[in-house]
Amino acid sequence: MKPKVSVIVATTVDGKITTSDNASSKFASRRDLEHLLEVRSHHDAILAGAKTITNDDPTFTSGPRYQDIRQKQGLPPNPIKCVVSGKGSVLPTARMFHHNDAPAAVFTTEQIPNRRLRELSEVATVYHVGQIEVDFGQILRILADRYKVQQLLIEGGGSVNAAAFQAGIVDDLYLTLCPKVAGGTNVPTAVEGHGFTLADLVDLELQQHQIIEGEVFLHYRVCSR
Ligand SMILES: NC(=O)c1ccc[n+]([C@@H]2O[C@H](COP(=O)([O-])OP(=O)(O)OC[C@H]3O[C@@H](n4cnc5c(N)ncnc54)[C@H](OP(=O)(O)O)[C@@H]3O)[C@@H](O)[C@H]2O)c1
Repeated sequence: MKPKVSVIVATTVDGKITTSDNASSKFASRRDLEHLLEVRSHHDAILAGAKTITNDDPTFTSGPRYQDIRQKQGLPPNPIKCVVSGKGSVLPTARMFHHNDAPAAVFTTEQIPNRRLRELSEVATVYHVGQIEVDFGQILRILADRYKVQQLLIEGGGSVNAAAFQAGIVDDLYLTLCPKVAGGTNVPTAVEGHGFTLADLVDLELQQHQIIEGEVFLHYRVCSR
């Protein structure tokens, strides 16, 4: 069965996911970080793009409180860690490959250089899932069949989010709207890529909303297309 796929992202009011000095989501509050960890704790696997892994160098290791929550739900202490890197720009030294024992997977394409393929194969399982761009259908099949993943959380950045929406695999969106303006023509937004035409816009249905100290926590369901 297709895993349920959620995207989680924090943006400024102008839709930016980082700043002109590339501070990632540091514009979001401590409460938003807790929200991310809480949502993460219900998921079997996490996936991010190569640039997010390179810039933010996350470990994807759950803290003790969230390991407890996971164990009560019958989940392993830490989620499976996945990165999408078509050209293999992600480095084998990234912390996600070394910080805990959960399986790590790299989803790549025929564009990856042989040397990088060998290096990454030493720290993760590498899957070829496309010629130029990854095929999200294949990624979901691999996660479901080989790792028994039922719930996948996509944690950005904008290019990966765009590819996931374009592939039509996203079921839920968790969006934190932070009361800041970042600006910057070249600063990425929550969903990058080629964009959708008016006829093809992704429709969302609001499930929940909460305002805490000026930050708006939104949970949307993607309407079937
Ligand atoms: N505010 C937030 O909630 C939040 C969350 C996450 C990230 N961020 C920030 O967002 C920024 C990164 O976002 P981004 O959009 O520039 O990059 P990204 O989506 O994190 O990563 C882009 C890279 O992922 C690979 N990739 C993405 N889609 C692909 C596809 N369909 N097929 C093959 N490979 C694909 C490519 O790697 P290769 O180059 O190896 O081919 C591409 O260069 C960072 O500044 C990060 O800190 C913010």
